[in-house]
Order: sequence, then structure tokens, then C-alpha cells
Amino acid sequence: MIGVFDSGVGGLGVLRHVRSQLPTADLVYVADHAAAPYGTRSLAEVEERAELCASWLAAQGCRVVTIACNTASAAALHALRRRMPDVDFVGMEPAVKPAAEVTGTGRVGVVATAATFQGELFASVVARFASGVEVLTAACPTWVELVEEGRTRGPEVASEVRRCLKPLLDAGIDTLVLACTHYPALLEAIEAVVGPNVRIIDPAPAVASQTARLARRRGVDTGRGRTELVSTSDRDRLLAAAERMGIVAPARVLALG
Ligand code: DGL
Repeated sequence: MIGVFDSGVGGLGVLRHVRSQLPTADLVYVADHAAAPYGTRSLAEVEERAELCASWLAAQGCRVVTIACNTASAAALHALRRRMPDVDFVGMEPAVKPAAEVTGTGRVGVVATAATFQGELFASVVARFASGVEVLTAACPTWVELVEEGRTRGPEVASEVRRCLKPLLDAGIDTLVLACTHYPALLEAIEAVVGPNVRIIDPAPAVASQTARLARRRGVDTGRGRTELVSTSDRDRLLAAAERMGIVAPARVLALG
């Protein structure tokens, strides 16, 4: 079995990519709605919640766990790998490396949560991969709310997306990294605001490929093709988002911690 978790519905995008690469694997998804959003919490708090999610998934028999959340990856990936050596973890890393490779203007934008920018992981990808490239950042907490509420299009969404991206666009970015798994749900609105000359990078397909590789290695790539959805407090929200994304699966509530 393969586990996937996020603070809420954002990681469903990653789950969908995992499912398309592993059609018969058994997948369990945890949305930690009881502690969401993660992005405005301290990294220590997020680490604690991430450990609860990962431990529960491991107890269900998951040998591969994908942290489909940049914030939780920033807060907990290293600690989880250390504390749970029997599980293979896949984390989200801001895709600064591919962005730095393709930028023509030398200016790259990264949108993520405030907590992701505070983590060492972000500082380290910038230090390792962005030499000679200017990295401009913006935290967009309202985007997470919009996606959780299923509001992904319309004038209000467009104006919120424009407000967040304006400073980056004014600075001349030609590449935009989506470093929060909730944001790709707003892709249509983001594309409309940035226009055709800004390349958008979503690392979800690459993360799903890495999940599939590890799942094959651990022999958990084939099963009965079941998907199970678990929210720590809001089953209806999770189910509604899954349906919007074409994911058909039973959902239930389970309190953690
Ligand atoms: N989807 C998450 C991420 O990738 C967290 C959003 C939130 O809960 O603030 O960062």
C-alpha cells in the first residue's frame, strides 16, 4: 500500500498523478483538515502533525509514503526518514532547479506557503541550484482557502491570483514555480494572469514518478487498485474535492492525535 498526505485537498493532485502511473496500486490518502492550513503554522507544529499522518499510514501497512505537501516536506521530511527507516518517503521540493535551467530573464518566481519559505529546504535548494538567478518569492495563503472551498475560477479568484503575482510579474519573472500542492488547482487562473510568456512549473508529475519508482522497488506497485480517502475532520470537503478531480473513492473521518 502507498500512503499520500497533505494538510487538505491539495495533495489530491499528486494522488491523481500517482494513480495514473500505478493503475492497480492500493492508495490511501490523508487530508489533515483538523490542523489545516499548515502554511501559517510553525514548522515544529507541522512536523508534529506530519508525524501523526505518517505513523498512521505506516500502521496501515504503507511502505511508501508521499508527503504531497511542500510545507510538511520542509518541516518533517528529514525527521521522518530518520525516525521511520522502514518507510520510503517521497517529499516535495520547490522546483527551483528546473526553473533556473530554463529561465531566460534570470528571474524566477516561487509561490509557496510562508512556512515553506522559512524552512531550511527552501534555502538549500536556492543555494544549490539558483546561483546567478534571482529568486522572487510570494506566499499566497488565500489561494489555499479558495482551493479548499472549491472556488477555482471566477472574478474573485482572478483578482486574488493577480494580487499575489503582481510583484513577481512586475519584477520580470519568466518562470513560475508552484511550490504548494494546492496551487495547481488554480492553474487556469494563474495562466490567464501570467500570460503565454511565463512558464509554469508544477513538480507533481515528477514526484509521482519517484513514488512509482520506489513502489516498484518495494513491491507495492500492484494491488487491487483501491483508493481510500481519510480526512482528520472534514469528510464532505475531501469528498467534494475528490469528485471535482474525477477521483472516485470512499471517504471517512478519522481523528489523529
Ligand atoms: N498543500 C500544502 C503545501 O504544499 C499546504 C497548504 C496549507 O495547508 O497551508 O504547502
